[in-house]
This record gives sequence, C-alpha cells and structure tokens, in this order.
Amino acid sequence: SVPAEVSIYEVGPRDGLQNESAVVPTEGKLKLIGALADAGLKRIEVTSFVSPKWIPPLADSREVASSLEARPGVVWSALVPNAKGLEGAVAARMEEVAVFMSASETHNKKNINKTIEETFAAFAEVIGPARDAGMRVRGYVSVVWGCPYEGAVDPLRAREVADTLLQMGCYQVSLGDTIGVGTPGQTERIMGAMLEEIPAEKLALHFHDTRGTALANALVGLAYGITTLDASVGGLGGCPYAPGASGNLATEDLVYMLDGLGVRHGVDLEKLVAAGELAQELVGHELPGRYLKAHLGA
Ligand code: HMG
Ligand code: MG
Repeated sequence: SVPAEVSIYEVGPRDGLQNESAVVPTEGKLKLIGALADAGLKRIEVTSFVSPKWIPPLADSREVASSLEARPGVVWSALVPNAKGLEGAVAARMEEVAVFMSASETHNKKNINKTIEETFAAFAEVIGPARDAGMRVRGYVSVVWGCPYEGAVDPLRAREVADTLLQMGCYQVSLGDTIGVGTPGQTERIMGAMLEEIPAEKLALHFHDTRGTALANALVGLAYGITTLDASVGGLGGCPYAPGASGNLATEDLVYMLDGLGVRHGVDLEKLVAAGELAQELVGHELPGRYLKAHLGA
C-alpha cells in the first residue's frame, strides 16, 4: 500500500537551474517560481546561497529570494552551506533553508570543499542560528545510491550522516541519488536500513533520473511509507560537482503516477505542464520530462 497523501518538494529553480549553462535572468526565474506556485506546489526550493564562483547560474540568489512575495501555504526554501550563506537567507527573510552534504568523503570535498567532519562543524553555525531566527532547516545527504568518485556507498554510513543531521535540528532529511544510478531493489535495501533508525516522516527521497529509474525508485519509497518526494519541473537538474549527473525525477511524471495511484498531492497537472513549457523556453532547450514531451507531442 502507499500513503493517501504526499508532499512534493519542488527543486527545479535550484537543482535545475544550477546545472544550466545559460544563465536564466532573475525575472525569468521569478516567473518560473510563480508558475510552480500557481500549479499548487507548496514547497519550492528557489535558489542557493552558495559561492557564485562555485555556482554561477545562481549568483542572483539574494535578488531572487528577496523578490518573492509570501503566498498562503507556500514555503520558499534555499540551499545554505555555511554561516555566510545563512546571512543571505536571513536578509531575504527565508522561512526555510536546507543544508547539504554527502555520504562519501570525496563527493563532499568536491562539492563543498570540506571533509564530512568539517561540514558538521560548519552546519553547527547554520542549523541552530537558523532555527533561532525562526526558520525550518532541511538536510540533504547526497550520493546515497552511489558516488561518482568512490562507487558503492554503505547505507549504514549514509544513515549515520542523516541521523546526525536530524539530531542537529533538521526537521527532515532528503536522501539523494545524485547521479541517478539507483535501482528499485537497492532502494528497498536502503529504505530497510534507514527505517530501522529513522521514522519515514523524517525522510524525503530525491531521485535523479539519469538511467530512467527515478519513478520506479519513488514508487518503492511510497511503499515504505515515505510521504515527501523531491522532483523538478520538466526533469531539469544535475549537480555540477558530480560528473554524469543529469535531471531530477520530473514533477509532471511523478504527479501523473500519483494520480494513477489515487494519492493526493494538491498539484494541478495542466498548470504544471504550463510551468514546464515556461522552463523549457527559459533554458532554451528541450527538457527530459516524459509527460511533458508526450503532452507537447515531441
Ligand atoms: P570555499 O572556497 O572552501 O569557501 O567554498 P571559503 O569559505 O574558503 O570562501 C571562499 C570565497 O567564497 C570567499 O570569497 C567567500 O566569501 C565566498 P572571496 O574572499 O574569495 O571573494 N563564500 C561565499 N559566497 C557566497 N555565499 C556563500 C559563501 N561562502 C563562501 N555561502 C563553499 C566552500 C561551500 C562556499 C563552496 O564549495 C560552495 O559554494 N559550494 C556549493 C556547491 C553547490 O552548490 N553544489 C550543488 C548543490 S548540491 C546538489 O546539487 C545535490 C542535491 O541536489 C542533492 C542530490 O542530488 O543528491 C542537494
Ligand atoms: Mg539533486
């Protein structure tokens, strides 16, 4: 059986646009974020307060975040890797931020230039102060299904990292298949290991669809009682510091599957497709999402 209702956490404006070579103008980003909220998405990751040298396409994070108007029931979130990033999020009056790290030392180092231990120390300067400022803090653990540098990752090691983030004050940890290598049988094993220690409602799943397995993996997660799934409009996405990483699970594909299962999610598929078309125009190339392609007759 699957949950009666799930919450979709939209990462297109962040995970999607961070990986595009063409920089989308701030105004275009704001239009896309607005279209996603119009479609009924209630949790939207809008940008990253990271070094503009590391992620040039999101260099306008302060402008994007501070231009967003509050919408009833909608939470804007943004990635924050350190105290400097939190400063930006506080200045933009974010309600939620997300810290991010990896289950493997090498990907952690390549992505945020710190060891795992140094990362926990940096997050101690983010999570507590963010909560004191009234924000919710989400956590990410990347490369849980496999690392582009180290290969296989021990689920128990990934669980330890997730557990530490929860103990440090994250309300939820999203487990990432950063390079889209996961298969459903593996997802069953990872879920089994995670749920021995961590309740399902504290976890989210974040699949990249590099090998076409994201939707199947998401279905396994639902069968294990997971109620938050990350997805990206049109299947935009990828991590510039994970070679071979491509788009996320497309939000339209997820919504279409959930509709078929009778799982409530609150998103209007037609309006979501309109947001997908807008995203495609903004990035200037065809997006990988399958439902979107079928709809556009491509
Ligand atoms: P560093 O070079 O070690 O940082 O980078 P530093 O503290 O030595 O500072 C160097 C310079 O960066 C200084 O500027 C700082 O002020 C500046 P300078 O004096 O040279 O002019 N700086 C900043 N500027 C703006 N905002 C900040 C900030 N911090 C320092 N927050 C750092 C360390 C973490 C900053 C860097 O590695 C970084 O920004 N990394 C971000 C990488 C990233 O965003 N990756 C993609 C997101 S993760 C992902 O996609 C996976 C996910 O989707 C889940 C999944 O799929 O698994 C979440
Ligand atoms: Mg990602």
